[in-house]
Amino acid sequence: MATKDYSKYFVAPDLKQAKRRGKEETQVLQFEPIPEDMRQIGRDKRYLLMTYGCQMNVHDSENIAGMLEQMGYTATDREQEADVILLNTCAVRENAEDKVFGTIGRLKQLKLENPELILGVCGCMSQEEAVVHRLLQSYPYVDLIFGTHNIHRLPHLLKNALYSKEMVVEVWSKEGDVVENMPKVRSDGLRAWVNIMYGCDKFCTYCIVPYTRGKERSRRPEDVLREIRELARQGYQEVTLLGQNVNAYGKDFKDINYLFADLMDDVRKIGIPRVRFTTSHPRDFDDHLIEVLAKRGNLVEHIHLPVQSGSSEILKRMARKYTREQYLELVRKIKQAIPDVSLTTDIIVGFPGETEEQFAETLSLVKEVEYDSAYTFIYSPREGTPAAKMEDDIPMEVKKERLLRLNEVVNEIARRKNEAFRGQVVEVLVEGESKKNAEVLSGRTRTNKLVNFRGPKELIGKMVSVQITEPQTWTLNGVWLKESSVRVGV
Ligand code: SAH
Ligand code: SF4
Ligand code: F3S
Repeated sequence: MATKDYSKYFVAPDLKQAKRRGKEETQVLQFEPIPEDMRQIGRDKRYLLMTYGCQMNVHDSENIAGMLEQMGYTATDREQEADVILLNTCAVRENAEDKVFGTIGRLKQLKLENPELILGVCGCMSQEEAVVHRLLQSYPYVDLIFGTHNIHRLPHLLKNALYSKEMVVEVWSKEGDVVENMPKVRSDGLRAWVNIMYGCDKFCTYCIVPYTRGKERSRRPEDVLREIRELARQGYQEVTLLGQNVNAYGKDFKDINYLFADLMDDVRKIGIPRVRFTTSHPRDFDDHLIEVLAKRGNLVEHIHLPVQSGSSEILKRMARKYTREQYLELVRKIKQAIPDVSLTTDIIVGFPGETEEQFAETLSLVKEVEYDSAYTFIYSPREGTPAAKMEDDIPMEVKKERLLRLNEVVNEIARRKNEAFRGQVVEVLVEGESKKNAEVLSGRTRTNKLVNFRGPKELIGKMVSVQITEPQTWTLNGVWLKESSVRVGV
């Protein structure tokens, strides 16, 4: 951390320090119970959390909500009645940041109407020097800024913000330790997020995440397994193991030889119906992991395997550390071991200097792999990353046009792959009413495909069989098969 002097209530981020990777071992700390005198602070008060970005942030927000509720606050989704509004932000692309600044600007009016309102900014944007400077200069009505490494200090920081006239800023640039047993309010009673590791050491040249989330550090296996067993006991139907690069799990343990494949093999023996994980970096995806995933059971047949580009030259400049051929070889091995696997991916178009030929290699790779779906992005320069300094002579119109062409190919394949489900019976975990039509229920297959069908509300939270009658590009419509009971694959 930059300084231990909290009395000043001001510890700002430092990008240079955030780049360093310390050699010292990660400490596992236990969350210190919130002191008695802080447990009443939020009595009769309400909080509103706005969460942007990836699942990591969604799960951090569950911890933040847990602490706020232990301080006596209750949740609201109405800005007007909130006493505390926290924005848990994402820095991955410029448009993510623009959205947040837009919201902070809009909330100024609310702050004028209600000066008692505490407005806080946390998450990945607050780890960026430039963002904190901009907030200090142009948004002085923000009361509190804290980062991703010191979330557990929220009760103290909020107390400071309540009693201080100054903006309270505490952002540690050097990553924190692993904090166990933080309070949590899980947003879903069926599906739970479980962190298995924090941070990222990959430093892909375009990406800000290693700076905002710090070095890779794994939770101890016994802590992860205990949490999943407890979730199973509470009746959760699905867990998603979280990490920026789950395949690096365990590489930082000095005392035990226990990697991601070992963890998955142990999770497989826990009686929870479905286990997912995200995100896996192709480079560390080893044969042992493929072997374990092929045992199936509660390990579902879905792998999110971001490729980013189909050109070995671009991959090299992205520092992804694999070639097109190595990626395709990995896909071949996975498909051989799990023939019905669903593969999804992330792709960036318009990386600095990407030629038409190099982009065409991405299109051809997408056709070869046949992804079930893909998240596609236009490259966005991030201050402080190596790619931001690379020369970029590709006009924005060309990048936009490439994105459209790529999406067309991705969608065409998605539609074709979904078409293959016509007439098939799939196992669906029913999540709730469909967002578009309350008469319709929706849920997901093991491969994470969204399925819509009609049925009684009692099915919500259950595993059911659905026969697919109308496959579409993004969803599968079907009919519930009342008689057949699905045996959960554990
Ligand atoms: N750890 C994950 C990625 C997290 S960020 C992984 O490596 O798979 C999610 C996605 O955002 C990335 O996969 C990448 O496709 C995209 N992304 C990251 N930085 C970006 C940037 N500067 N511009 C555009 N897209 C970016
Ligand atoms: Fe970013 Fe690469 Fe790390 Fe993913 S693996 S978070 S893309 S640096
Ligand atoms: Fe965004 Fe941070 Fe996640 S930058 S994608 S919220 S790790």
